[in-house]
Parts: sequence; C-alpha cells; structure tokens
Amino acid sequence: MQNTSNNSRTKVLVKSDFDRYAEWELYFGRFNIDIVRWEDRQEHLQTLRFALVWQPEPGSLAELPALEVIFSIGAGVDHLKGENIVPEGIPIVRMVQDSLTSGMVEYICYQILALHRDMYQYARDQKAAVWKPVTYALPKERTIGILGLGVLGSAVGRALQQFGFNIIGWSRSEKSIDNIQSYYGDAQLEAFLEKTDYLVCLLPNTLETTGILNQKTLSTLPKGAYVINAGRGTAVVDNDLIAALQSGHIAGAALDVFNLEPLSSDHPYWQMENVFITPHIASMTHPEGSAAHVAQNIGRYLEGKPLTHLADLKRGY
Ligand code: NAP
Ligand code: GLV
Repeated sequence: MQNTSNNSRTKVLVKSDFDRYAEWELYFGRFNIDIVRWEDRQEHLQTLRFALVWQPEPGSLAELPALEVIFSIGAGVDHLKGENIVPEGIPIVRMVQDSLTSGMVEYICYQILALHRDMYQYARDQKAAVWKPVTYALPKERTIGILGLGVLGSAVGRALQQFGFNIIGWSRSEKSIDNIQSYYGDAQLEAFLEKTDYLVCLLPNTLETTGILNQKTLSTLPKGAYVINAGRGTAVVDNDLIAALQSGHIAGAALDVFNLEPLSSDHPYWQMENVFITPHIASMTHPEGSAAHVAQNIGRYLEGKPLTHLADLKRGY
C-alpha cells in the first residue's frame, strides 16, 4: 500500500483481546498502516474507516460515522452479533490466517493423540505412582468425525490423515476433500455420528448449531466415543454431556470453549476425571501474519476489489 505522508496513512482502530498493541503497531507498520488503540479512539472517531475488533461493547462501533469495514480479530464472528453492535450494512471480514489455522491443527492433533493413547490416564497414574500399561487400537480402526469442515475443520482433517485414522466430516454443503468422507445437512448428521469414535466440533456459534451436542446426538455416537469441542461452547448442552460422561457412554471430553466464559469455578466440569479443560486457547490470532491479512484486504478495498473472507451475519458465520 502506497502512503506518502503521515497525514494520508491509513489508520485502523484496534480493540485487542490481549494487550498486544505493540505487536499490532509493529506489523501494521510494515504496511504503512497506523493503529489507533481502542482507548485512544475519541479524538479519531470522525475519521476512522477500518476497525479490527474483539468483543466491542454495544453502541461503540456506532460512534464511528466514517466506518466502512469491520475486521474480526477471531475466526468466529459471534462476538459481533447482538443488538446495536454492528451498524447496519457494514461488511465484516473474518480472521483467516495460517497461524490461526496451524494453532488449531496443533491443538486438535494433540487432543486426539492424547485421548487415543490414554495419555490423560497415564498422567493420573503417575500421580499415584501406578505402572499400568494398556493396549491401544490402531488408528485405522478409529474414525474421527469433524463437525464443521470449513477453514479449520478441513485443515485439521488433512493433518490427522498422516496418523492413519479414518476421517469423516459434516458441514452444511457437500465437500470434496481427498480421503475425507463428506456428510452434509441435517439429514446426514445421524449417519455421520454413528460412525464417529472421536468427535471434533469446529462449528461456529449460530442459531442452528446451538445445542447440537445434546442427549440425542451424544447417544447416537458409539459407546466409548470421545468429544473434543474447540468451536464454541454454545454447541453443547452441558447437562446432557455431563450425563453422558457420567454414564460412560462418552468416555471423555476435551473442552476449550464453554457456554459461559470464563468457566465458573464451581462448574461440575472442573471436578470430572474424564473432562480436560483449556481456557479458550485452542488457537490464537497472532498480530504477525494477521496484520497482513487485514492490510491486504484494506488494499483490495481501496482499489475497489471485493473483500475476501466476508462473514454473513444472516447465515450466522
Ligand atoms: P468456517 O470456515 O466458516 O467453517 C465453518 C464450518 O461449519 C463450515 O464447514 C460450515 O459449513 C459449517 N457449518 C456452519 N453451520 C452449519 C450447520 N448448521 N450445519 C452444518 N455445518 C455447518 O469457520 P472456521 O474458520 O473453520 O472456524 C470455525 C469456528 O471455530 C469459528 O466460528 C470459531 O467459533 C471457532 N474457533 C475457535 C477457536 C478457539 O481457540 N477455540 C479459534 C478459532 C476459531 P459450510 O462449509 O457448508 O458453510
Ligand atoms: C477464537 O475463538 C476465534 O474465533 O478465532
């Protein structure tokens, strides 16, 4: 992007989820873009055309009369839903970036391998000084079912193939990905679940996906299945998952996302031996690379080209 003087430099308002402003400044600077920190926005309200945000307060984006494009710091855009958050008609660009994808691939591969190879049990055994080897199945005898075969789900599916697991996926539309059997639409959900030993949920939070992991769907999984949720907590009916874990129908769950975050300290999940909790860190947006994704899109926009990775709030993701 060509900017000649400081006055003409493009500005992006940044509301960072972690305090990573110095990094955003550095990496946007490489594209001759200045950032305005969220807390300093008052003096720029009239002129800001671009905002990169995570969980803006209702009404705050409406204070920007010149706003033209909103960039989500996350892949998910559910933090931008709700009354008076996004002014009518402003396009929203999702975060799609290699390090966000590879972070999710690392997290899911880690959880699958830990569950498949009983690593959480060995960690408990170590605490009790117990030496107890157990046999394990061959990967080709186990099927991983990925709910949501989008940017993240398809990358995760491709990565898991190297271990020899069978991989199937479920999405709204039919997919054609080498060696990943595609199931799609509500009518094929049951057939998908019946085959799944390790369920990976990478669905966005929408009206349709809310509560999709409930008594009925969980009981459709084979006995002894594992559940990994790194999409959004809203996909899970917590009481139904807890009951399925207590009955042993679901052998264990690795949960990164929750209906209410932070997870309250008295939530039953914390005390369950077969639940493995992480605090919504499966993957993160790193300013390096992500600033490039935003800068390239701003460049396209300023040249009159279509934005990439647009979210559709009506569809919900
Ligand atoms: P994406 O590319 O938009 O993929 C979403 C997938 O979900 C698509 O395959 C879509 O189907 C499918 N889907 C949506 N609604 C559906 C429905 N009703 N029935 C069946 N399939 C449905 O999104 P992404 O970049 O992969 O990200 C997925 C989600 O991961 C984000 O929305 C976010 O919630 C979560 N996430 C979590 C973390 C974390 O740290 N825990 C980090 C990043 C992202 P189609 O392909 O047919 O449209
Ligand atoms: C994180 O949860 C994201 O949506 O990127």
